[in-house]
Amino acid sequence: MQITATSSATAETVIYLFRQDDTLADRLSFFANALLLTQDFKADAGQTVVLYEESQKTFLVGLGKTPKEADFIKVLRSFFYKQKQTLPNHIALHLAAGSVETQWIEAIVNGSLLGNYELGLYKTDAKKAPDFFERDTELQIVVLEAEVELAKEAIEIGEATAQTQMQIMDLMNAPANKKSPQKLGDWAVESGKKYGYSVQVFDENQCAELKLEALLAVGQGSVNPPRLLLLEYIHPQATRKVGLVGKGVTFDTGGISIKPSANMHYMKSDMGGAAAVLGTLELAAKLQLPVHLIGVIPTTENSVDGLAMKPGDVIGSYAGKTIEVIDTDAEGRLILADGLAYLNRNYAPDVLIDLATLTGSVIGTLGYVAAGLFCNNDQLSAQLQAVGQKTGEKLWPLPIWDDYQDELKSDVADLKNYHGKPFAGAIVAAKFLEVFTEKHLAWAHLDIAGTAFADSEFGSQKSATAYGVRLLTKWLRG
Ligand code: BES
Ligand code: MN
Ligand code: ZN
Repeated sequence: MQITATSSATAETVIYLFRQDDTLADRLSFFANALLLTQDFKADAGQTVVLYEESQKTFLVGLGKTPKEADFIKVLRSFFYKQKQTLPNHIALHLAAGSVETQWIEAIVNGSLLGNYELGLYKTDAKKAPDFFERDTELQIVVLEAEVELAKEAIEIGEATAQTQMQIMDLMNAPANKKSPQKLGDWAVESGKKYGYSVQVFDENQCAELKLEALLAVGQGSVNPPRLLLLEYIHPQATRKVGLVGKGVTFDTGGISIKPSANMHYMKSDMGGAAAVLGTLELAAKLQLPVHLIGVIPTTENSVDGLAMKPGDVIGSYAGKTIEVIDTDAEGRLILADGLAYLNRNYAPDVLIDLATLTGSVIGTLGYVAAGLFCNNDQLSAQLQAVGQKTGEKLWPLPIWDDYQDELKSDVADLKNYHGKPFAGAIVAAKFLEVFTEKHLAWAHLDIAGTAFADSEFGSQKSATAYGVRLLTKWLRG
């Protein structure tokens, strides 16, 4: 499949996108049987009507009221996902005729390509006939002559984004037996070679030399040893240095403080923060963004064996602080502590952002709608929230007031990893991380437990959303 920009469509099958607004009836008057059509087609988000005329097939697709980037992506992804089996080889998507502006092309292309994404990675059934994405097909984006060049650029970005997102979703959706910490490292090395950024994978011995003691403590109960991934992309004209840390727990059993089994299979997604960081590094390098980006991914399993850390254990950390492990299931903050301190001390980034599927508590607070945003810098906080509104990767601020500081006090060590109380779980976790940012002045922590892995129309179980990839790259571009 290829996507092209043109001012003169040749394809017989045409797609028009319509907003739900006062001009809808007017614009539909151009079609045959306009009166009947107007009664049926209200341009609700995702509503699709097919018109047949001689050899021509026309799709009218609704966008809903005041659609934003996220809505374009959602509607187009769903459209192509549902139609890809039967779509003919040449399709034109008319923007001008549906009065949709060129600024939406990136999202339209991004969404259309995501329609290609399938969850059945390990299915062995005989394949169906090749679909629209697998055949030698063309999707023409039809714009005004003056806008063709602009459209081409937008198409490229939309394609690059979707490709990376789908890789990231594959990583997230992969079961733990197909993605050890080393495998995440292998993925990063491959991606780095392909798109021109450097990747180092520190094995357990190197982690020990570096004194990443908290990461090692979490990993000590697993046969798949932990890794620290260090990714670095430097553009020659970079004006700022941004550090990203992602939680890479490839499976979270809870450890000795073991989780109930009902939803434990979802814990293969506990590397959602790592996935977001990997995707952002790859996409930033692909798009040659003018930044200096450093990605640090502490990655491990949180598993159970005779060597596993136990509740009450006191462990060390890269920053030198001792931690009393009240609950082995609060492992994310332990490995992030090492990741944050390592990145901060060795690279002193202007901005430090971490992403983690960190707490069930943030789901209790914000559901699956928004990620929890903990930020000590008002400007950064406002920027991230604004970008999130656009891309649909919403963020909502939660406090990191020192009123919560006492919850970290341990009798025996410098701090403890869990306060043992049924409230403010996401906030206390953020306060824990804050200690290891060592007074960095522009730090943001995104608790993405609810947003990285969610229900969708594409499967019966939760699956990856690639949360964070568009958010961070868009923020870096802005
Ligand atoms: N990985 C989980 C958080 C999580 C929960 C992510 C649900 C996605 C969906 C994290 O490591 C965890 O277990 N958190 C505990 C912390 C508690 C023991 C202090 C939680 O939130 O229950
Ligand atoms: Mn856990
Ligand atoms: Zn976890």
